[in-house]
Amino acid sequence: MEKIDSKARRDVLKAGAMAGAALGLGSLITDDRAYAAGKSNITADDIAILQFLRVAEALETDLWEQYTELVENNPGYAAAIKDVDPALAQWIMDTVRDERSHYTFITAYLESIGVTPADLSGFYTLPPPPVDGLAPTLRLTNLTDLTVNTNWYARYRTSANPDFGDQSPQIANIVNLPAIPTQNGLDAGTLKQIAYTSIFHFASIEQGGASLYTQFLPKITNLDVLRIVAGIGPTEAIHFGVFQTALGRMDGYTSPDGTVMFPNLSNNRQLSFSVMPAPCNFLKTGGALPLNSVIRPSSTPVAGAVAAATGLTNSGLFTGQSQAFFNAAGALATAADAAKRGHS
Ligand SMILES: [Fe+2]
Repeated sequence: MEKIDSKARRDVLKAGAMAGAALGLGSLITDDRAYAAGKSNITADDIAILQFLRVAEALETDLWEQYTELVENNPGYAAAIKDVDPALAQWIMDTVRDERSHYTFITAYLESIGVTPADLSGFYTLPPPPVDGLAPTLRLTNLTDLTVNTNWYARYRTSANPDFGDQSPQIANIVNLPAIPTQNGLDAGTLKQIAYTSIFHFASIEQGGASLYTQFLPKITNLDVLRIVAGIGPTEAIHFGVFQTALGRMDGYTSPDGTVMFPNLSNNRQLSFSVMPAPCNFLKTGGALPLNSVIRPSSTPVAGAVAAATGLTNSGLFTGQSQAFFNAAGALATAADAAKRGHS
C-alpha cells in the first residue's frame, strides 16, 4: 500500500476540501442551506456541524467494530488485551455500542428534519487483514499502519493547553505500527505490541472526539442541535477517561530489535492514578484568569473539523482510501469549521 508523508496527507485533504464542491458534496451543502433558509430555525451551519459529526461517528463506529470483532473472536488479540486489563473487553464492546448509537441517532435526526445525510456508502472500500475473528467486510478505516499521537497523556496531567500553542511530549513512539493483528499465528510479544498500540489508540481517538464536540458548542444556534452535541460530547470524554485507566496497568514492552518501545506506566502509581484533567489555561493565558479543569484543546484551529480530519489522516487511519473520500471529508470539515452561532 502506498505510503504518503504527513505533508502530502495534509495537501491531499486540503485539495479535497477545495475539490469537494465539484464532486457532489457542494450540492449537498447547498441543499442544506436551502432547507435551513426555508423550513426551520435550524441553520445551515448547524446542519454542517451535524453532517461532519455524523462522518466522525461513522469512522469511530467502523474502527471500534474491528476492535470488537477481534476482542470477541480472535483469541490471541483478546488474551493480549485482557492481560493488560480484563475490563478492556467490556469497555471495547460498550464503546462500539455507544458510537453506533451516535451515528444512528445523528443520521435519524437529520432525516427527521428533512435533511439528506452525506452519502458515505461508496467509501467502505478497505479490506481488513485476513485474520481470525475479523469479518471480511470492506471498511472505512485502516488499523494496520498507525502513527498514534500520545501527547494527550502529558497534556491532561499539566496546565498545557494547545489552544495557546502549548506542546506536550509524546510518551510512546507509535509510528507506522499495526493496532490489530495483520496475520494469524503471531507470537505473544508481537500481540502484546499490537495490544499496547491499540490501547493508546483507544484513548487517543476518544480524547480527540471530546475536543471536537466541545469546540463546536459555541457555534450552534438551534437548541436541539446544541443538546445533541452537548449530550454526545461528554460520552467521548467518559470513554477517554476509562481507557486512560488501563494505561496505568501497562508494564512496558520493547521489541526484540529494539525499534519499538512502550513505557512502563505501572511503576509510577502517582502518575498512572492521575487520570483527572489537571487545571489548565482556559479562554485567556498569561495569568489573566485562574487555571480551570476542562476539556482541551477546544478551539477550531487545533480541535475543529479540519484539524480532526487532518490528524486522523496523518495517523494513517485512512491509508488506502480513495481521493473521493478525502474530497468528501475535506468539504464537510471545511463547511463545519465555517459555522457561526446565529449565522445561516
Ligand atoms: Fe461517538
